[in-house]
Order: sequence, then C-alpha cells, then structure tokens
Amino acid sequence: MSAGQLRLCHRDDIPEGAARGFLPLPDAPRNVIVVNRGGQLHAYMDSCPHYRGGTPMAWRKDAYLDAEGAHIACHAHGALFDIETGACVSGPCLGRKLTRVPLSEAPDGSISVPAQVAGRAARES
Ligand code: FES
Repeated sequence: MSAGQLRLCHRDDIPEGAARGFLPLPDAPRNVIVVNRGGQLHAYMDSCPHYRGGTPMAWRKDAYLDAEGAHIACHAHGALFDIETGACVSGPCLGRKLTRVPLSEAPDGSISVPAQVAGRAARES
C-alpha cells in the first residue's frame, strides 16, 4: 500500500452483490460504502445528497442496498442510487449523486482509499 492510502479491507471481504461500510480511520466522520457488482468494486461516501452536509444512509450495519440488491438505498427517505454511477434514480434527490471514492487494489487484494477521504465529509458539512 502506498503512502497516503488507508486500507479498508480485502477484496474477498465483499462478496458479489454485497455492500459494506468501512470507517477509514477510527475518528472519521463517515463510512466509505463499498459495493461489489459483477466483481467490480464501487465506493462512495455514506452521505446522502438529499440534505446539505449529507445523512448516513443505512438503517442498520451494512444495510446499504435496497431489498433487491439492485440499488444503493438511503433509508431515511427512500432515495435510490445507481451502483455504477452513484446517480440518484428515484426519490427526493433526483439529479444529484453520491460522492465517489477512488479505490486502489494491491496485488494481494487489499483495498484502500486516499487518506484525505477520512476527513472529506467533515469539510463538506
Ligand atoms: S436523507 Fe437520504 S433520502 Fe432523505
């Protein structure tokens, strides 16, 4: 892992069709959501764009997808987001997007994010 990167997990920790939230640092203000869709990993800040400053989206640990596993869901007011693009496709924040987080994968399967991600949500608030 290169300097300035924070390790989140191993690729195998996120099975196909699943989503998990990871706190990049113990005092980070928000989780990073990682979704495995077709073997491709997508990551976003756990911060719904419906409200300025964002709102955490899961109703329980790692509950980031809708019942069908087809979209990322905000359980506060029901917004649905495209997994590949983060765009809101249904609900009160149509036209807005989740904040994408760039992922790096090491040869051993370790998944990491840039260190500045740990403070991003706080600055946006
Ligand atoms: S806070 Fe996410 S839909 Fe309202």
